[in-house]
Amino acid sequence: MAVDLLLGLQWGDEGKGKIVDVLTTSYDIIARFQGGPNAGHTLEFEGNKHVLHTIPSGIFHPKAINLIGNGVVIDPVIFKKEIDNLAPYKINFSEKLLISKKAHLILPTHRLLDAASEAAKGKAKIGSTLKGIGPTYMDKTGRNGIRVGDVLSPDWEEKYKRLTQKHLRMLESYNSSIEYDLDSMEATFSESIKALSKFKLVDSEQYLFEAQKKGKNILAEGAQGSLLDVDFGTYPFVTSSTTTAAGACTGLGVAPNKIKKVFGIFKAYTTRVGSGPFPTELFDKDGETMGRVGNEFGATTGRSRRCGWIDLVALKYSIQINGVTQLMMMKGDVLSGFERIKICTAYKTETGIMDYFPYDINSRIEPIYDEIPGWEEDLTKMSKVSQFPAKFQAYINYLEEALETPIKIVSVGPDRKQTIFR
Ligand code: IMP
Repeated sequence: MAVDLLLGLQWGDEGKGKIVDVLTTSYDIIARFQGGPNAGHTLEFEGNKHVLHTIPSGIFHPKAINLIGNGVVIDPVIFKKEIDNLAPYKINFSEKLLISKKAHLILPTHRLLDAASEAAKGKAKIGSTLKGIGPTYMDKTGRNGIRVGDVLSPDWEEKYKRLTQKHLRMLESYNSSIEYDLDSMEATFSESIKALSKFKLVDSEQYLFEAQKKGKNILAEGAQGSLLDVDFGTYPFVTSSTTTAAGACTGLGVAPNKIKKVFGIFKAYTTRVGSGPFPTELFDKDGETMGRVGNEFGATTGRSRRCGWIDLVALKYSIQINGVTQLMMMKGDVLSGFERIKICTAYKTETGIMDYFPYDINSRIEPIYDEIPGWEEDLTKMSKVSQFPAKFQAYINYLEEALETPIKIVSVGPDRKQTIFR
């Protein structure tokens, strides 16, 4: 029996969905603990490509139970679309998908508030996915939110109206020019709420507690990345939830001493969507090549991702905050063909050289790079570590030594099969 934890160590889009899907065979329960439909977890297998936003990435496996935890925020409209899109797979949702009654709901007006708030920020905008994430978490901590369990309550309508009216008054104060048809949004919302209420709505912390007592193996699935964490990320350019390890405890009701392995996922380079600091960002041909070869476009918004070299200062920080016990390196294949590979080992700041993640990450920070020779070989057809070119192996060894944590999985392409265990 164990609760293991899997999370992203950069600014999201590390490939968590793919790895959860690969690891699911070893787990009885996959439990998503934070975030909402701002996430886009892409899975590829048997020629199919699928993007999940709210549903945990273990859903395609015949046995695993998938649980949406209390720390997640759910947009019933997007959730219903996700469920409808899964129709060809004939998944038995009544057995395989559980939703915490304590998860908060994203209302149509949360999305409007997100849009108005971003518009009001002008140049300082966060680059939110505009899915209503920030306003929903604000209502949660402000103790105004509506939870999944409320859909079963006789005063659901009243709760909904009260909160929506409050939002409409807030919207007026933004004086924003965003256009919307609330009646039509509400019609779709109401249909989606009906659909949501037919799912198994549970006291998920109790379910997980019982499951642990029965010896079940649980994998907690994170969304976004550690550098988007509301406390430890590049604030204010972050999301609104705890994306780091502690979020699994609060987002599922699992006690800290029950967590065993912590899998940290990172890309062989770095990407970021939205605004905010990114010390190793490239504005040249190398960055453009990473974006093109790595197909770096947001799975949720379609926006192109900013690309740059790997940043060991940031990675060490994430490993430390999360207590990562093993690493998984994604997209090594994308770096094939670069003559030299750069590795950021420290930052040059106004106050000197820093080898840990500073409070103020600003544009005046200059990355200090080490360089190693690149490799030419295409890695995407490789299936064993012994096939790796020596220079790629040297890159892995360099990172492993610098990060003082073993790299247990190397991914060389988007498909399940392109996953190599070390
Ligand atoms: P929000 O969570 O939609 O409010 O967005 C806040 C910031 O987090 C923006 O910079 C988004 O681009 C970023 N973000 C949110 N979700 C993801 C994700 O799943 N992957 C990468 N970036 C994300």
